[in-house]
Amino acid sequence: MLEFKNVSFRYDVDEFAMMENLSFSVEDGDFVSIIGASGCGKSTIFRLINGLEKPQKGEILVDGKPISSLKQYSAFMPQKDLLFPWRTIEKNICLPMELAGVPPKEQEARCREVLEQVGLLDYMKKYPKDLSGGMKQRVSFARTLLSGADMLLLDEPFSALDYLTRVEMQEWLLHQWEHYDKTILFITHDVEEAVFLSQKIFVIQDRPFSSMEMVEVPLSYPRDRSDLKRPEIVELKEQLIGKLRRSVSL
Ligand SMILES: Nc1ncnc2c1ncn2[C@@H]1O[C@H](COP(=O)(O)OP(=O)(O)O)[C@@H](O)[C@H]1O
Ligand SMILES: [Mg+2]
Repeated sequence: MLEFKNVSFRYDVDEFAMMENLSFSVEDGDFVSIIGASGCGKSTIFRLINGLEKPQKGEILVDGKPISSLKQYSAFMPQKDLLFPWRTIEKNICLPMELAGVPPKEQEARCREVLEQVGLLDYMKKYPKDLSGGMKQRVSFARTLLSGADMLLLDEPFSALDYLTRVEMQEWLLHQWEHYDKTILFITHDVEEAVFLSQKIFVIQDRPFSSMEMVEVPLSYPRDRSDLKRPEIVELKEQLIGKLRRSVSL
């Protein structure tokens, strides 16, 4: 569904390119993680996918069509929840619909539906301050789902959460993914998180990069955290950490 074809990109202010002739593809319904050292260009890939930046060379296609000809093919969820503290959860969720002129009754119905899906219907009239960090990220995810896009771009969505909440949210996210039949691209610098969640992991190792090594995780779904203790998975994690360390020391 998503295809990068020989994409080259450099920020105007930079002397050097960030990626050169990068080609990769992601299949419909995949759960793919992208890992790499901080500053290597992971978030930039998302900015290119959602059209915030344009490649100097190459093409980005979704279902075979250039993204410039498409609307609402992807939805982005950032690390911070970006909820307005003075708006209730309902009003936060409805904001994009408000801006799009959706009738209030329909806004409310869709908000209810999506809050129910993420298990937070009771919090509809509450404010962000009344929710834990994990709950706020679930609201943020609900807002991403509401966009209706088939491809979700999640940029380190759990990295600000404490360890146990993060583990819970990972399991929760897998349930959501299994339920909704979405394609998920997930950025993280946490190797274990990438291994637990994904079918495939793309590793960024060079600067500039012209390819990403693709590593398949030999686990089926549903997954359990005890799977992480299997010898082949422990070995895979070590290999990935090794690749990232080599790239940091470049
Ligand atoms: N909007 C921007 N304009 C100019 N440079 C940017 C911009 N966003 C990021 N960069 C630079 O590009 C590099 C890679 O950024 P980014 O894609 O955010 O990396 P990552 O997400 O892997 O940490 C960083 O060195 C950063 O300073
Ligand atoms: Mg980033």
